[in-house]
Amino acid sequence: MRLKDRVVIITGGGGDIGTASALAMAREGAIIAVTDSRPETAERTAAAIVEAGGRASAYALDVMDEDAVERTFEAVNAAVGCPDILLNLAGDTIIKKSVDMSVAEFEHVLRLNVTGQFITARSAARRMLARGRGGVMINIASILGYGGTPRRAGYTASRAAIINLTRTLAVEWALDGIRVNCVAPGWTMTRALRNAVSSGSLNVEALIERTPMGRLPEVEDIASVIIFLASDESGMITGHTIPVDGGVTAYMGVGGKPSHA
Ligand SMILES: NC(=O)c1ccc[n+]([C@@H]2O[C@H](COP(=O)([O-])OP(=O)(O)OC[C@H]3O[C@@H](n4cnc5c(N)ncnc54)[C@H](O)[C@@H]3O)[C@@H](O)[C@H]2O)c1
Repeated sequence: MRLKDRVVIITGGGGDIGTASALAMAREGAIIAVTDSRPETAERTAAAIVEAGGRASAYALDVMDEDAVERTFEAVNAAVGCPDILLNLAGDTIIKKSVDMSVAEFEHVLRLNVTGQFITARSAARRMLARGRGGVMINIASILGYGGTPRRAGYTASRAAIINLTRTLAVEWALDGIRVNCVAPGWTMTRALRNAVSSGSLNVEALIERTPMGRLPEVEDIASVIIFLASDESGMITGHTIPVDGGVTAYMGVGGKPSHA
């Protein structure tokens, strides 16, 4: 039980990585506040945790609404105590040619993926600082925060920004015992990816072909790194982003993944 009795707030907790992470953290003894802008998905995740014998409740929350974030974090505080861990997973993308992307679309992705994580980190830190016992935050980036990808101007900019926001919040709160780290998943085998593969809109073989480990991450691969970063096992790690990508961002070779030849 690496997270016994820790209070966790998860944003985007109704999504695929959110559900896997919430279930894994609950199995480690944590008390989970599952939040999502789609309340029915947060309720589904919380119900799955309770059914498995864990402790969880669901909250509707849009991370772009700073008043709602304050209200929800206060409600969690009143119900189960000060958050020990914030897991920021809410996020999305707009896929469009840059010449056709409106400023509103570009800024929407930045607001959701960057400002949203800042807003929740700020609300969590206010409570952790007032309590004086530190805490843990885990942000979400992507391997697309390390390099360019066509038609994803807002998304790639937002993921790169989070990698550096993580460093700044980490050093700002380091003396207060609040650790801030980040996870950068590669293309992960979520339901959306499996659907794209089965509908023929995504060539999964091409993705696997440029992944040195020869397979794409499962949601459990992301969740297990999140558990490590949330637990005391990573007690001296702060300000870092861990790619969970089977070696994609480490590889600069040509002609597909490296072979034994
Ligand atoms: N799946 C991947 O391959 C992959 C790779 C890299 C990074 N990521 C990022 O990891 C996170 C989780 O990914 P996932 O695959 O589980 O995606 P997902 O779409 O299943 O989950 C994201 C969740 O965020 C919620 N959300 C969207 N806008 C919100 C808002 N304004 N406020 C609160 N919640 C909001 C959605 O309702 C959804 O439940 C996302 O931020 C995603 O961009 C995913």
